[in-house]
Amino acid sequence: MLKIAVLASGGGTNLQAIIDETEAGRLDCSIEVVVTDSPSAFALERAKKHSIATAIVEKSAYPKRKAFDAELVRLLKEHGVEVVVLAGFMRLLSSVMLEAFPMRILNIHPSLLPSFPGLNVQQQAIEHGVKFSGCTVHFVDEGLDSGPILLQAAVPVLDTDTPESLAARILIEEHRIYPEALNIIAAGRISIEGRRVIIKEA
Ligand code: GRF
Repeated sequence: MLKIAVLASGGGTNLQAIIDETEAGRLDCSIEVVVTDSPSAFALERAKKHSIATAIVEKSAYPKRKAFDAELVRLLKEHGVEVVVLAGFMRLLSSVMLEAFPMRILNIHPSLLPSFPGLNVQQQAIEHGVKFSGCTVHFVDEGLDSGPILLQAAVPVLDTDTPESLAARILIEEHRIYPEALNIIAAGRISIEGRRVIIKEA
């Protein structure tokens, strides 16, 4: 069973999807700890409700990125974490985290990367006039939403969409493909060739 940590700064619906799939026995992972940089993150309540260990690493206590990451590494290693799952974690990671967990940090992003990295991406997708958007699970590298892509799912963008309605449609797919990506990793079904993540048949 793959030992993971989920890092979240906000509502934590992706965390909830991972918890639910784990508890249903469909996800071969155990969530060792949920970490946030924001004491008011609702993700903390979700974790506590399911008796999952939590930790808060506040930016104010570690204003320098590398010191913040060093504390994260200490915490994650203490919990025996093998794979780090970013789920709405609003802080860029430095080389300190990347070197401690090489190709072992995943992120989910609400667009079809490499289109629309960064923030407010549903609004950008609507303004750009794309007909499809979606979500991407990717490995984290030193860039912004730029690491090798593991899974993607597409959804239509409707003429009537607002950023909120598009975000809601994308989230449904996020909740489906993030657990799926974790199962693929837990089963050791990936190899990486250059930028390409090759998924072996189950
Ligand atoms: C998701 O849209 C995810 O793609 C992005 O942040 C949002 C987190 O949502 N990285 P939640 O906290 O999991 O509900």
